[in-house]
Amino acid sequence: MIFTVAIDGPAAAGKGTISKAVADHFGFAHLDTGLLYRAVGAKVLAGGDPVQAAKALTPKDLEGDLRTPEVAQAASRVAVLSDVRAALFEFQRSFAARDGGAVLDGRDIGTVICPDADVKLFVTASAEIRAERRYLELSEKGIEVTREDVLEDVIARDKRDSERSEAPLKPAENAVVIDTSDLPIEVAVAKAVSAIKACR
Ligand code: CDP
Repeated sequence: MIFTVAIDGPAAAGKGTISKAVADHFGFAHLDTGLLYRAVGAKVLAGGDPVQAAKALTPKDLEGDLRTPEVAQAASRVAVLSDVRAALFEFQRSFAARDGGAVLDGRDIGTVICPDADVKLFVTASAEIRAERRYLELSEKGIEVTREDVLEDVIARDKRDSERSEAPLKPAENAVVIDTSDLPIEVAVAKAVSAIKACR
């Protein structure tokens, strides 16, 4: 059974949490595509070439701490490069087509990677709320950041991700938009689950 759920949205909108929860609910595999760009960004911070890094990416590169604000910024800088995106395309496509169902979350899943996805969700929230959630997440992990820095990171990445010419961040035409600004996470997950049920 091939069934693809595409979940896109801006930085720290709750895509990860919602994706994991719906993948668990339906027994689908989950791919956080942001991690691929973060892994390439981390290689560049270590002095590597972005296109070579994307071509040579291995599962091991996805381990380790890629969830820092520095790596997030580096990820969004390499993500504007069409050769980097092209190098990561096939892996994401085959993941989406695996037997048993797949959830992919990112920026261009419903628009570029899986334009024929069975369900497309666009998860969003106000920049302030997203920054506050990310601030709490990073602080809990012991990463020292200020609320102002996190808000700046979120706004800068949204701008770069939305304005790039290659696969810009935007909702797919037929995406179901879930604004999580005023929603407890359980309610956001329930909305995602019912949107998927409606398409099965
Ligand atoms: O977790 P968060 O939403 O903060 O970011 P992420 O999903 O890990 O993505 C990090 C960066 O990778 C984004 O800011 C994008 O620039 C890039 N990205 C992308 O261009 N396309 C994707 N499908 C996923 C991420």
